[in-house]
Amino acid sequence: MTTILITGGHSGIGLAASRKLAAQKVDLVLAGRSPDRMREVADELRSSYGTSVRTVALELSSLESVRAAAATIESMLASGELTSLDAIVCNAGGRFDGAISFSPEGYETTFATNYLGHFLLVEQLLPKLSRNGRVVYTASGTHDPDSMDGKMVGAAVEPDAFALAEVGKNGDAALSAGKRYSSSKLCAVMYVYELDRRLRKAGSAVSAIAFDPGSIPETGFLRGMPAPMRRLSTTSAMKWVSQRLGVTTSDVAFSGASLAALATENGYVDASGTYFQAHEGTLTAVRSAKVSYDLRRAAKLWEDTEELVGLRIRGEATQPR
Ligand SMILES: NC(=O)c1ccc[n+]([C@@H]2O[C@H](COP(=O)([O-])OP(=O)(O)OC[C@H]3O[C@@H](n4cnc5c(N)ncnc54)[C@H](OP(=O)(O)O)[C@@H]3O)[C@@H](O)[C@H]2O)c1
Repeated sequence: MTTILITGGHSGIGLAASRKLAAQKVDLVLAGRSPDRMREVADELRSSYGTSVRTVALELSSLESVRAAAATIESMLASGELTSLDAIVCNAGGRFDGAISFSPEGYETTFATNYLGHFLLVEQLLPKLSRNGRVVYTASGTHDPDSMDGKMVGAAVEPDAFALAEVGKNGDAALSAGKRYSSSKLCAVMYVYELDRRLRKAGSAVSAIAFDPGSIPETGFLRGMPAPMRRLSTTSAMKWVSQRLGVTTSDVAFSGASLAALATENGYVDASGTYFQAHEGTLTAVRSAKVSYDLRRAAKLWEDTEELVGLRIRGEATQPR
């Protein structure tokens, strides 16, 4: 029996992926911060597909909540309530418009939610992942400052973990919500590549895959935007304009199915360290941003992130896995 942990599996792209996985008889653990909605979705999946679906409370912007969620999953595995953990799908995330805000640990909310929370979750659960397990991360084409996706949302800035965690604090000029979002996703892509390198070096058979679902305004993604803008973004005229401009466009069913496929299908067994993009009904491996291949930056990002999430003390070497 395959069991997959998915964050944000109760809405949007994550829900489409959860339905696809449940239809394939995969057992699921839905992790998120909306217990009522998660319960409704768990009931729907159980009654429609007969799979086992559990829910775990997870507020990604809180490191304490991430640690608690990881501990809950570990005890489910220890008690036999879960028979295995075969993939971690890091899908939850969003852009946070409006006044800049900070996590309980004092880190900028977008960076904490889209990047730090999943980093810690995976680090905590990696030892529990099946031998050939997978980590699949829903990134975004906006991470690439040279792409139209990146230009439209706001070009990602230097992937400097300390600077991004502190954005808008101490009287600094805050980055726009779009730039905070695209920068957090650039960190996510670089994280996946660095995780892949570290897994290979350790002789592990676990895979790390990055996924761009493409622009899908129909999900809850634009919830922070004014209602007229949200309505406009879902019109066919707007989709036509986006396509002409060169934005990566998709739909929720295709991108959800693609995410499910990356987490389970044999065809992606050798895909570790690859960035996939869903675009108009095709899922292909593509190049990510130039900067995302910078090994020195990626290693520094990893070490600084370990420090931010409390897995390393400044100046100390990383603990071996
Ligand atoms: N839609 C697009 O155009 C697009 C394009 C590229 C990438 N993406 C990425 O695709 C992923 C899924 O987004 P979506 O489009 O499906 O939007 P969505 O429907 O809004 O789903 C986002 C999910 O993330 C969860 N989430 C947000 N903040 C969280 C937090 N602090 N802790 C725990 N869970 C949190 C939400 O939970 P709640 O229901 O509790 O809010 C929701 O389940 C995201 O990572 C997004 O960045 C989307």
